[in-house]
Amino acid sequence: MTAMLLDGKALAQKVRNRLKARIADLKKKTGEAPGLAYLVVDNDPVSAHYVAGKTRACEEVGVKSFVYPYPADMSERALLERIDELDIRPDVHGMLVQLPLPPQINVHAVLEHINPDKDADGFHPYNRGHLFSASPSIAPCTPKGIMLLLKENGIEVAGKRVVILGRSLVVGRPLSMLMLGADATVTICHRKTRNLPEITRSAEILVAAIGQPRFVTAEHVSPGAVVVDVGINVVDGKLTGDVDFDAVSEIASAISPVPGGVGPMTVAMLIDNTVSLFERRVLRGRPEKV
Ligand SMILES: NC(=O)c1ccc[n+]([C@@H]2O[C@H](COP(=O)([O-])OP(=O)(O)OC[C@H]3O[C@@H](n4cnc5c(N)ncnc54)[C@H](OP(=O)(O)O)[C@@H]3O)[C@@H](O)[C@H]2O)c1
Repeated sequence: MTAMLLDGKALAQKVRNRLKARIADLKKKTGEAPGLAYLVVDNDPVSAHYVAGKTRACEEVGVKSFVYPYPADMSERALLERIDELDIRPDVHGMLVQLPLPPQINVHAVLEHINPDKDADGFHPYNRGHLFSASPSIAPCTPKGIMLLLKENGIEVAGKRVVILGRSLVVGRPLSMLMLGADATVTICHRKTRNLPEITRSAEILVAAIGQPRFVTAEHVSPGAVVVDVGINVVDGKLTGDVDFDAVSEIASAISPVPGGVGPMTVAMLIDNTVSLFERRVLRGRPEKV
């Protein structure tokens, strides 16, 4: 391997240490701790695994976690009512609904129902709108984590050609906005994109977020490019990214591994968002509803 490893696990630990100090300071000033609520419909093993990782990280830094598991056949109305209950709780500063949701629940209706001032994932259209208009907001955790992973590894984004594989509302689209805000020249690719390898080879920074194990091969990457692998796939019981790590790490200048790359950064950014929401509410007294 010749590429520099973008070690998200180590960086996320550093970020959590910083957050721990920030939270201790806030506790001294306010006598309160930030609280994050998780609404988990259909608490299957995968969702339970992700939520457990998030609550462990929260506990480490002093954020209180409130986990609410619900049955898979929960109605949309019932979920909206649970969100309302959490909205008026003064000890809950941020909340998130674990995705994906079962088919009887409209994900857009749910995300819109969360008070933007308690929107820890940054998925409410109000917060998305702020991101679109490049004004400060609560940004989605994975894209925010990717930007920090690049920055703290000394990788300049301004002026670079960035190619993002995947246009989801969770990763690809918000990342494109953050990259644009950081003065990159951005191309987003999806299933209908033609001549994909030609486009990806034009990237100085290539981000893969498609959910296709080892899809990105050496053929997709130009020598010296920075490659960020967002994918989380399970192959033969092992976590595997969207990038063929062994082959691509021989030609890239830097690459993030799976596991230990973007995943831990996402969790750290969730805590960062929760602390920001707490600060807004407790220190600046923002209104309950926007
Ligand atoms: N590390 C983390 O913290 C983290 C966080 C979130 C997600 N993830 C992982 O990242 C991956 C993507 O997640 P997501 O939520 O963004 O997924 P998603 O909602 O399924 O979106 C996948 C995107 O990839 C595109 N795509 C799929 N196959 C493609 C192909 N062969 N060529 C070109 N584009 C293709 C799709 O194109 P169309 O729009 O045309 O269908 C879509 O835009 C998954 O593995 C997920 O588990 C990781």
